[in-house]
Order: sequence, then C-alpha cells, then structure tokens
Amino acid sequence: MNLAVELAPRRKQGLLLQNPVMTASGTLSNGLEATRIFDVNRLGAIVSKGTTLRPRAGNPQPRTAETPSGMLNTIGLQNVGVEALVRDVAPVWATWRVPVIVNIAGESVDEFAALASRLDGVPGVSGIEVNVSCPNVAVGGMLFGQDPKQAAAVTSAVVRATTLPVVIKLTPNVTDIVAVARAVVEAGADAICVINTLQAMAIDIRARRPVLSTVFGGLSGPAIKPVALRAVYQVAGAVDVPIIGCGGVSSGEDAIEFIMAGATAVQVGTATFANPNAPLDVLDGIERFMVDAGVSDVRELVGAAR
Ligand SMILES: Cc1cc2nc3c(=O)[nH]c(=O)nc-3n(C[C@H](O)[C@H](O)[C@H](O)COP(=O)(O)O)c2cc1C
Repeated sequence: MNLAVELAPRRKQGLLLQNPVMTASGTLSNGLEATRIFDVNRLGAIVSKGTTLRPRAGNPQPRTAETPSGMLNTIGLQNVGVEALVRDVAPVWATWRVPVIVNIAGESVDEFAALASRLDGVPGVSGIEVNVSCPNVAVGGMLFGQDPKQAAAVTSAVVRATTLPVVIKLTPNVTDIVAVARAVVEAGADAICVINTLQAMAIDIRARRPVLSTVFGGLSGPAIKPVALRAVYQVAGAVDVPIIGCGGVSSGEDAIEFIMAGATAVQVGTATFANPNAPLDVLDGIERFMVDAGVSDVRELVGAAR
C-alpha cells in the first residue's frame, strides 16, 4: 500500500511525507511532549506551535472554552520565540525521521521574512507554514489573510527569504477564500493549508460578559469540519498546488472526506485534546478504509469526489 504524498512538487528537493497525516499547529506544542504519548515518527509531518520573532506570553486567561462539538481558543501565540526554537528545539527535531514544519506568525511582511530567513538551513526544519491569520499592524490590524494582496505580499517575501518549501495557511474568515488562494499560489506558495479557526465567541450569562478574555476567539473541532471541507473543495478547484485539509479531523473517515474533496494531506488538531492518540488513529483509519475499498495508493483518492 502506498501512503506517501508529495507536498512541494514544484521544488527540486520536494517535501515527501510517508503518509498524509500531519499534526495541526498549536495543538501539540512543538511535539516534544508528544514523543511520550505516541511514536511521532509514524506521522507524515509535525507542525510546530506558531512561532514569532520574540518570545510571547500569550493572552490573559480565560483563553479556552468548550462549545458543542468544538472549542474556542485565544491563546495569543504563546511561544518561546524563534531563537530559542532554533537553539533548543530544532536539534531534537533533527534526530527524528518525521519532517517538522515550523508555523510562523508576524505583524508585518518584514517580520515574516525575517522568521523565514532565520529558519533557512536550520537542521531539523523541513518546511515553513505561514499563518496569515495575523493582524497586519501597518494596515490597522486587518488580517493578512483577509486581503489577497497582503497575503500575496507575505507569501512572496517568505518565498524569497528561504529555500524551504512554503505552505500558506488560509483563514476562513473571508468572503472569497478562492481569491486569496489564487493570489498566494501566484506569489509562489508550494502548498496551501485550509483552514485556520473561525472567529467566534461565547457569553457567560451569569457574569453577563464574554467568556474569553479577548471577547473573540477561534472555533475549532468537529463543528467546523463541514466548513473546512467546503473550503478545501472550492480551493482545490481553483489552484494546482497540494492542499492540506484542516478542521475537525478526528477519524480516518474524516480524513478520507478531505482527501476526496481534493486535499493531498490532512492535519489533526483539536481532536488531540480529547484523544492524544488521534493522529495515529486517523492514520490507522485511512489504512483500514483503503484495505476495505481495495485502494492501493492514497493518491488515487485525492479529489475522488470532485
Ligand atoms: C489551542 C489551539 C492553538 C492553535 N494555535 C495555532 C497556531 O499557533 N498557529 C496556527 O496557524 N494555527 C493554530 N491553531 C489552529 C489549528 O492549527 C487548526 O487550524 C484549527 O484548530 C482547525 O483544526 P482542528 O479543528 O483540527 O483543531 C490553534 C488551534 C487551537 C485549538
């Protein structure tokens, strides 16, 4: 059975995954603790916590809330910063067989470029995932990913600053996700991750105030799966680079849905909180489905429902 998929076919060195199951940024920290729970080397790839130029403490509590079939979070990019990541974490990644993709977040195009350049050539880092769900301080806090031009500007700056494969992770909080996808592919993205969290909120009716310290947060988990699937289907019809489906994947069947919608790989995020073994359960489920359906190469399923 072939489970291997290529995420950066436009690059000479490529980014070959032994299977299509990745972890989603921010839901497994930098992967180090996960090694105590399951064999990370069985996965297709690990994606790091969102990393910024300087360390960040994140937002005040409360910063998570449960919702029906999902959760809200406003972690605020708590992370050790790129220097500590390169110094302390990347050397551990370099001993793993599984490729690690570093998720980066910046407040300006220059910050994104500086992060990409700092990570270039670092042993243990196999790719960059760009979180464009960040406010662009220069244009009044609008998210980079909400404007095709801003998203393209970040993409080309990152692509210029590194020789690593570049994944652009899109926000669903837009009117037309296809326009943003087209713009980032034209600007040089090797692959696209669809989607980040949906902007949402909850209210504590006894306290008569919002639950989250920042009022709004991001909704994730099974509740967003149909939205993510729709976005993957739309984007897959519009661009010719690999798509990574993300949003509510918690079983092999979920992953197969994303793959049939046009995704080449999937990421598992929130599901890990209820079931730390979820990424490997998803992988086992994909294999079971393929055996039952008599499919010998997972690539045959990519876009099969289109
Ligand atoms: C607690 C938490 C932290 C997250 N942190 C990040 C992050 O740092 N960077 C990022 O691009 N996405 C981040 N995400 C979004 C996830 O990577 C993923 O896109 C989203 O949760 C949808 O997938 P899921 O339903 O499988 O969780 C975070 C999500 C959660 C729940």
